[in-house]
Amino acid sequence: MDNLASLRDQVLTAAAQAATVADLDEVRVAALGKKGQLTGLMKALSGLDPEARRERGQALNVVKDEVAAAIEARKVALEEAALNARLAREGVDITLPPRPEASGMIHPISQTMDEVIAIFAQMGFAVAEGPEIEDDFHNFTALNIPPEHPARQMHDTFYLPPQADDTRYVLRTHTSPVQIRTMQEQAPPIRIVAPGRTYRCDSDMTHTPMFHQIEGLVIDKSTHFGHLKGCLIEFIETYFELSDVPVRFRPSFFPFTEPSAEVDIGCSRKGGELRIGAGDGWLEILGCGMVHPNVLISCGLDPNEYQGFAFGMGIERIALLEYGIPDLRTFFDADLRWLKHYGFVPLDMPTVTGGLSR
Ligand code: DAH
Repeated sequence: MDNLASLRDQVLTAAAQAATVADLDEVRVAALGKKGQLTGLMKALSGLDPEARRERGQALNVVKDEVAAAIEARKVALEEAALNARLAREGVDITLPPRPEASGMIHPISQTMDEVIAIFAQMGFAVAEGPEIEDDFHNFTALNIPPEHPARQMHDTFYLPPQADDTRYVLRTHTSPVQIRTMQEQAPPIRIVAPGRTYRCDSDMTHTPMFHQIEGLVIDKSTHFGHLKGCLIEFIETYFELSDVPVRFRPSFFPFTEPSAEVDIGCSRKGGELRIGAGDGWLEILGCGMVHPNVLISCGLDPNEYQGFAFGMGIERIALLEYGIPDLRTFFDADLRWLKHYGFVPLDMPTVTGGLSR
């Protein structure tokens, strides 16, 4: 009997000291498993005479039940402690906001570019890019603006110091050189828009030395002025989110297009407030035309085979109009209060179907 009592004490102590459920399970198997000590004692009962077997069997059963209950109780305690530790470790403060508040803002220029690109992308235009430091050929000559042409004076060009061969690079005065680079690099059909920075030596309420334009170019075999009009009217209605903006194509001149037009949209100026839409006023927003045969020839295209249209638009101008920002120069003051007021939330990506975040 003594050995049973000491076995009981030994198992109960081991169970109480088990630090994990796995340790505890080892204690259980050693005592109550198939080859466990108590199981062994139970098996040995068969060798006893009936009287002794009953007595011994009862005693064994009491110990067995007591040990099994102690192990079970310890198991529940250990599992509960493990769960509490895990809850403490993986605790989540559900009072915190789900995502830290975004503190940066998208500048209205970037936002406007993204909006314009989204609209033209919807119409199947790809985005093209070119360098801001341009050579004379791409910025002028290939665009049918030969040396001594008066249009060169109109551009108030920033020239870089002369090279050894006396040629001078310029800060591109418009995004039109990207037309040339695109036609040199890829075969028609071409349908691209080229957004980017442009530079002219000019500064007042409505001009800054650095500004942004977006250029468009479509070249294939049958594109005509009707396509140009349809494309730009569609753009204007989508951008200003108005289905009935009056649009006027006014004959104009650009060396690189023939015929050329400037596009005006209707507006009213009642009470000093400018409103896009029907009214008695007109606002010029872009220049366009059919690509001049000389431009096609400069790019190695045969004007008897290919034709197309181009357009160029000032980003600041249409941003001012859409967001009602009064002074162009404030775009570049880097004033954080201004940006907080006119800026856009970074996660609001403009799309034509999803909305142009306004
Ligand atoms: N490059 C012109 C400018 O900066 C804008 C322009 C007008 C671009 C007509 C064009 C166009 O592609 O066809 O004033």
